[in-house]
Amino acid sequence: MNNAYASLKAALAAAPKCWAVTGAAGFIASHLVEELLKLDQTVVGLDNFATGYRRNLDEVRQGVTPAQWGRFTFVEGDICTLADCRRACEGADYVLHQAALGSVPRSITDPMATHNANVNGFINMLVAARDARVKRFVYASSSAVYGDHPGLPKTEGVIGRCLSPYAASKHINEIYADVFGRCYGQTAIGLRYFNVFGQRQDPEGPYAAVIPKWIAAMLSGEPVCINGDGDTSRDFCYVLNVVQANLLAACTENPEACNRVYNVALNERTSLNQLFTQLRDQLAPQFPKLAGLQPVYREFRAGDVRHSQADISAIRTALGFQPSHNLSAGLATALAWYVASQKPGANPAG
Ligand SMILES: NC(=O)c1ccc[n+]([C@@H]2O[C@H](COP(=O)([O-])OP(=O)(O)OC[C@H]3O[C@@H](n4cnc5c(N)ncnc54)[C@H](O)[C@@H]3O)[C@@H](O)[C@H]2O)c1
Repeated sequence: MNNAYASLKAALAAAPKCWAVTGAAGFIASHLVEELLKLDQTVVGLDNFATGYRRNLDEVRQGVTPAQWGRFTFVEGDICTLADCRRACEGADYVLHQAALGSVPRSITDPMATHNANVNGFINMLVAARDARVKRFVYASSSAVYGDHPGLPKTEGVIGRCLSPYAASKHINEIYADVFGRCYGQTAIGLRYFNVFGQRQDPEGPYAAVIPKWIAAMLSGEPVCINGDGDTSRDFCYVLNVVQANLLAACTENPEACNRVYNVALNERTSLNQLFTQLRDQLAPQFPKLAGLQPVYREFRAGDVRHSQADISAIRTALGFQPSHNLSAGLATALAWYVASQKPGANPAG
C-alpha cells in the first residue's frame, strides 16, 4: 500500500479540486481524466484530436458514474491557440499538461510540426496557467532529454545532447518551466516519462509505440519487427504509475519538491528481446499458435537511444512515489484490454 498516494486520493475525494488536463483524448491524459473523475474532481479536458480519439473519452465515460462524468467538460481546441488554453485553465487549481506530438521518428520527419505543438503550444499553456493563477503546472517531459549520455541509470541532473527534434522540444519545455518559476513565481513540476504503456495506447500508424504495435501484430498474425539486434533496452512504465506521479506532483505541499523534474519509471531495464518473449509468453496460453513465434530483425532506427533506465530515487524521496504496477502486472492488464478490444474479423495469432 502506497501511503502518500492513498492519503492524497482520500484528501482529494474529501475536498475536490478543479483540474485542467491537456491532451485529454490521448492515451496518458485519458487515464488522468478517468482517475480524477473517479475521485469526484472537476475536470476540463483540452484536445484537438491530432493523435487522440473520441473513443478514448467514450471509454472514460463508461468507466465512471453519470454524476462523475457530469463533472467533465471537454474543450475541443488547440494548445497553439492561446484563447483555447485560457478556456481550459479558467478556474483550474491544477494543470496537467500532456498535449504534444509524441514520437522521435515523427519529429525527424516533420520537426516544425513537433516544435509548433510541443514548444509554441507549451508556452501558451504556461502563460494561460500563469494568468489563471493555478497552484501547480505539471507537464509531461520525456526520457528522450537524456539524449546521448551513456550513464545508467539516468539521474535527473545529468543529460546529454538531444538526438531528435522531439527530445529538443521536451528539453526546451523544461527550460521554459524553470524560467517561468524564476520570472513569475509559477510552481511547475516536469515528469520525464520513460516508455509508458497501457490500455488505449494507439497501436496504429507509423509512429505507434513498441508495446501496442507488437501486441497488435501478434494478435493479427503479422510479423513482429525488432529495430536492431534486440539488445536495445527500455524502462517500460505502466500508465497508472504515471497517473500517480502526476497527482503527487500536482498536490505536493513541499516547496523543495517544486520547480524540479523527475524521472517516472520503474528503475528496471528490459531489452526488446526480453519484451518480445514476455509478450509472447503472456499471450500464448490464450493463443497457442504464438508459442513458437520468433521476431524479425531489421535496421536500427535513427534517433533512438540504445539503453534507458531511470533512477527513481528523487521522485520516491520528494513526492512519495511508489510504482503500483511492475512490467508484468501492467502488461497483464494492458494485454487483456487489447485482446478484448480487438477488431471483429481479425485473425488472432495467424
Ligand atoms: N507514451 C510515452 O511513452 C511517453 C513517453 C514520454 C513522454 N510522453 C509524453 O506524454 C504526453 C502524452 O503522450 P501520449 O503517449 O498519451 O500520446 P497521445 O498522442 O496519445 O496523446 C497526446 C494528446 O495530445 C493531443 N494534442 C496534440 N497536439 C495538440 C494540440 N496542438 N492541441 C491540443 N491537443 C493536442 C493529441 O490529440 C493527443 O490526444 C506527451 O506530452 C508525450 O510527449 C509520452
